[in-house]
Amino acid sequence: MYAKLTLRREDAKPESGTHSLLRHPVFAWLGIRPVLGQHTASEHEALKKWVTGKSSLVEIGVAEGASAVALREAMSPCGTLWLIDPFHLSRMRHINAMKRAARRAVEGCRNGRIVWIEKFSSAAASDWNGPIDFLFLDGDHSETGVQQDWDDWHQFVAPSGVVAFHDAATFPGGWTRQDWGPVKLVDRLFRDQVLPGWRIVQQVDSLVVVEKLSGVTEL
Ligand SMILES: C[S@@+](CC[C@H](N)C(=O)[O-])C[C@H]1O[C@@H](n2cnc3c(N)ncnc32)[C@H](O)[C@@H]1O
Repeated sequence: MYAKLTLRREDAKPESGTHSLLRHPVFAWLGIRPVLGQHTASEHEALKKWVTGKSSLVEIGVAEGASAVALREAMSPCGTLWLIDPFHLSRMRHINAMKRAARRAVEGCRNGRIVWIEKFSSAAASDWNGPIDFLFLDGDHSETGVQQDWDDWHQFVAPSGVVAFHDAATFPGGWTRQDWGPVKLVDRLFRDQVLPGWRIVQQVDSLVVVEKLSGVTEL
């Protein structure tokens, strides 16, 4: 089994360093443990590589903010990172420890500018109108959910911009399965056929990065 940075999924093996009693986000909010990432160390490095120098970044699906921290650390100091998550999964909505843990972690880095959008991605898309040079899809993993995110958002990606899909590939010892929404979507769009104007530029563990070819304008 591959080690994610620190695993939280029901179907994945928790990293030995985090006791299960400490997995509640309140412990990250209080600073008792670091935020729990939901991706591997190789994916973390790949995310950082792709956002280096990027200035208009959107992440859909923030959770405790581990990937958002990676993006913030590596993005252009002049850039803006929009973080979209309704944080609707908290059982105690007035406390919402996951949201507070994410804010604490992301605000611990001062690089660039952060805009929090506490909405579902489809609602955020209906208000959106600017170009994006890095889009990370890691929100609703159902087949219809990730399809909706692609349909809503890919038109805003600038030529030479990239979209990173998480949980979109199976890999040896990994946690993803062939029937997962992002795997099926990436198969359908980029593996079984080649969507005109787009190409896969990297696959690392479950992360698949696609680039919009320059010369393609949809806005
Ligand atoms: C897999 S976690 C994100 C993990 C995070 N990117 C990381 O690597 O640390 C998924 C997150 O997506 C959020 N989410 C689910 N559906 C969403 C939607 N339609 N729009 C935005 N966020 C959504 C959930 O609240 C949850 O926090």
